[in-house]
Amino acid sequence: MNFTPSIVLAPYGEHWKAMRRITQQSLNRSSSLSLLPSQLMDARLLLQELLVHPGNYIGAIRYALGKNIIENTYGLRITSPDSEYVKLSRETHEVIQNAVVPGSFFVDVFPALRFIPEWFPGAGFKRLARVAKARGEHMVDGAFDAAKNAINSEGSMPSLVGSLLSSEGPEEMTREEYEYTIKWAAGSLYGAGTESTTSSITTFLLTMVLFPDVQKRVQDELDSVVGRKRLPTFDDRASLPYLEATIKESLRFHPPTPLGIAHRLVEDDVVQGYHIPKGSIILPNIWAMNMNEKQYDHPERFDPERYLGPSPALESPVFGFGRRACLGVHYSTAAIFITVASILSVFDLRAQDKDGKDVRIEPAFTGGFVSHPKPFPCRLTLRFPESAELIRGGTSLL
Ligand code: HEM
Repeated sequence: MNFTPSIVLAPYGEHWKAMRRITQQSLNRSSSLSLLPSQLMDARLLLQELLVHPGNYIGAIRYALGKNIIENTYGLRITSPDSEYVKLSRETHEVIQNAVVPGSFFVDVFPALRFIPEWFPGAGFKRLARVAKARGEHMVDGAFDAAKNAINSEGSMPSLVGSLLSSEGPEEMTREEYEYTIKWAAGSLYGAGTESTTSSITTFLLTMVLFPDVQKRVQDELDSVVGRKRLPTFDDRASLPYLEATIKESLRFHPPTPLGIAHRLVEDDVVQGYHIPKGSIILPNIWAMNMNEKQYDHPERFDPERYLGPSPALESPVFGFGRRACLGVHYSTAAIFITVASILSVFDLRAQDKDGKDVRIEPAFTGGFVSHPKPFPCRLTLRFPESAELIRGGTSLL
């Protein structure tokens, strides 16, 4: 599939503006507040999943996040980690990861590659691109068609696609153009949201097992604000500054998209005396910015304290820049907050194997444009005797 019509890869122009307009309406700072109740509910369901399958914490996180994005975007009900739409998002990313340089298809960066055959040594990415095409079609067209068919059916859920389709759309667009815009806008949220947020939460958990003192401080703060008789809610967020600082530090420590998304210059530019001609492709090295000693004291250290006090450090530019900055920033920071606050309020995380034996962890991350921590031992145990009861009852009053 050619992913160019997506918000992420579309060139600046009318199609991109139309998609950005309709998605921003539901994801800007104030509208994204309406998504918080569903995010809270899915964080609670995640705890129930972890209680039963603590070893499969990455799968459970991907399920909870994918479920929330797919349900809110398409209104398709997701009831199991094995849902085809949750799996599809991961599988499409897996092949795209290997067919792209970060944020752009190889063939866009090196147009001459268009002319080499698939069997040519080193042209494996072309085969991957073919698989990505099939999976992407299923993801973008399949989810949209299913959402369209589900509208007005029994048990259908309110969603972005549902509400957009029920309106006339802008006067200057035909119905066909309007539906094409909605299809690609929705596919972009589905494609861009799940893997990046899963990576950020998994990285957070990795930092907790690497730095148990920080984990303890986060839990002490949760205990003093939330206590042990209930689970965290979004109302607690403003009272948990150390947790917020730890989330910022984990995003800086390892950004989910270390090289951002590739951009093509629409006009000539000069940066620090270097002439960059129109048409050049640039990759913003977010990882290097996060490791800049002029910006961050001892950048290699994991130190949430840098975000506290009277002159906190600059937040890392993990969500990108300017008019192409991430659309999901408010939504995903809320998801990260409620997910990690919920997990740490009832579980201890340890670098241990399943038998409880301590294991040394060397942090390592996958390549590709969304970079995840490589699997690491992380044993989840309940923090106190009432934890299990709290988790089981966590969804009943919502
Ligand atoms: C921790 C999670 C996330 C991170 C680190 C992240 C990071 C980024 C980055 C670096 C960009 C490129 C910005 C640029 O080119 O300057 C981007 C773009 C984008 N993100 Fe995110 N993202 C996250 C979550 C999400 C979520 C949850 C959604 C949707 C629900 C989303 C939707 C998008 C879209 C649609 C774009 C393309 C914007 C455009 O080109 O106009 N992202 N994101």
